[in-house]
Amino acid sequence: MTVIGQIEPIQARARAGIAAVATLDDLRDLEAELLGRRSALAGLKSAMASLSPEERREAGQALNAARTAIAALLGDRRAVLESAEMQRRLEAERLDLTEIPAGSRHGRAPERGHLHVVTQARDHLEDVFVGMGFTVAEGPEVETDWYNFEALNIPSWHPARGMFDTLYVELGEPESILLRTHTSPVQIRVMEGGEPPIFSIMPGRVYRRDTTDASHLPNFHQIEGLVVDRGISFADLAGTIDAFTEAYFGRGIHSRLRPSYFPFTEPSAELDITCVVCEGSGCPTCGRTGWLELGGCGMVHPNVFRAVGYDPEVWSGFAFGFGIDRLAMMRHNIDDIRELVSNDIRFLEQF
Ligand code: DAH
Repeated sequence: MTVIGQIEPIQARARAGIAAVATLDDLRDLEAELLGRRSALAGLKSAMASLSPEERREAGQALNAARTAIAALLGDRRAVLESAEMQRRLEAERLDLTEIPAGSRHGRAPERGHLHVVTQARDHLEDVFVGMGFTVAEGPEVETDWYNFEALNIPSWHPARGMFDTLYVELGEPESILLRTHTSPVQIRVMEGGEPPIFSIMPGRVYRRDTTDASHLPNFHQIEGLVVDRGISFADLAGTIDAFTEAYFGRGIHSRLRPSYFPFTEPSAELDITCVVCEGSGCPTCGRTGWLELGGCGMVHPNVFRAVGYDPEVWSGFAFGFGIDRLAMMRHNIDDIRELVSNDIRFLEQF
């Protein structure tokens, strides 16, 4: 058979083969088979050597035309297969955003955050005291030495300054501006800003130069209480504290006062409550005493009244202060204060 006569059957086979190929990989193999160095067309090209120049030109043109036609068919098929491949990938990687999880009619509600356990404790404390007729006041976290110490009967030479490891701010005279070490300075601001009778609580953040451990953070929360009126007695203090304890912790939890010392109160007392873990029978949490230390309290010192221009012969009052973080820990049996600031969702979502 002549060279030209062999071209048509090769082209026909190529047409059928290209139409039958189903994947891009197979198409690549077929392309090598049809147009490569070992292809039938390449074989014909070598066979042309034996032709006369006239025949050779004719055969050469026919071969080139066949090559071009096969290459065009391969190109068309490749385009079809590529688009099918793309379609398949899009299907496979498709995300169905309308899908509703099994067992739910309305889909999964987005997870919502909630108030931190310390904020919850603070809100609850405010509710209990507001229910007893107290108002809520706040003061600045950056304070002056006068509000944090002097006005509270703690002059600079006073040994009680050692009770507070203070963080000072580099502002004004050295050691004149500080991060408040307790909420007690708000007592002074409340008394300066109003007149008795005063029934106020003052929650907020306080700061100490403490090394962090299981029971200390350099930044924690306190709530302060202040009552000033005519004829306020130590019995009013004890009764208020006990009423609060039962309202906050529930029946069966009581308070007791132990003699203590604070410069801004006289007499002063340490305030304990029935251990909320064992309810008084004695356990490791309370060191088998049945009691937990909550904070301090006492009758407002006459020097504190004098600092704000109140006549101590006319007015009397009591004050108390305790840690909100500690309170939240007692309530929920949390044994490491660092958990409160660890920002671990597994801890936080429990409360
Ligand atoms: N400010 C004290 C402290 O941080 C706690 C305290 C004790 C507050 C007695 C008071 C109080 O109002 O009367 O250690």
